Amino acid sequence: MKKIEAIIRPESLSAVKSALDELGYPGMTISDVKGHGKQKGLEQIWRGRKYKVDFLPKLKLEIVVVDEDLSKILNAIIREARTESIGDGKIFVYDVIDAIRIRTGEYGDNAI
Ligand SMILES: Nc1ncnc2c1ncn2[C@@H]1O[C@H](COP(=O)(O)OP(=O)(O)OP(=O)(O)O)[C@@H](O)[C@H]1O
Ligand SMILES: [Mg+2]
Repeated sequence: MKKIEAIIRPESLSAVKSALDELGYPGMTISDVKGHGKQKGLEQIWRGRKYKVDFLPKLKLEIVVVDEDLSKILNAIIREARTESIGDGKIFVYDVIDAIRIRTGEYGDNAI
C-alpha cells in the first residue's frame, strides 16, 4: 500500500474527487493547509503598496491505495489538478505498513 499526499489548489478538489471516485477510491482525507513552494508566496500590490503573502491556502488530500493502483491514481490527480501555472501543487508518496477497517477488523488491501 502507498499513501499519496497531494497538496493542491482548493479549486481543483471537486474535479479530483470525482476522478478518484470513478477509479474506485471514494475514501480520502482532506485538510485545509497553508504553504509555499519555490516562489515563497507572492507579492501583492494594494493601494500602491507592496504586501508579501507568505503562505497561500492550499488543500491537502491524503489517500491510501493498493500498489497496483498507484500510477493511475497519481495520473488522475495530476490531470485534474494541473493548470500549468505556478502553484499547482505537489505530490508526495509514502509506503504504508498496514491499514485496518475498525468495524470489521479487516487488514491490509482489504481494509482500503
Ligand atoms: N518541498 C516541499 N515540502 C513540503 N511541502 C511543499 C514543498 N514544496 C511545496 N510544498 C507545498 O505545496 C504547495 C504548492 O507548491 P507549489 O506548487 O507552489 O510548488 P513549487 O515547487 O513552487 O512549484 P511551482 O513552480 O509550480 O509553483 C505549497 O504551498 C506547499 O504547501
Ligand atoms: Mg510555487
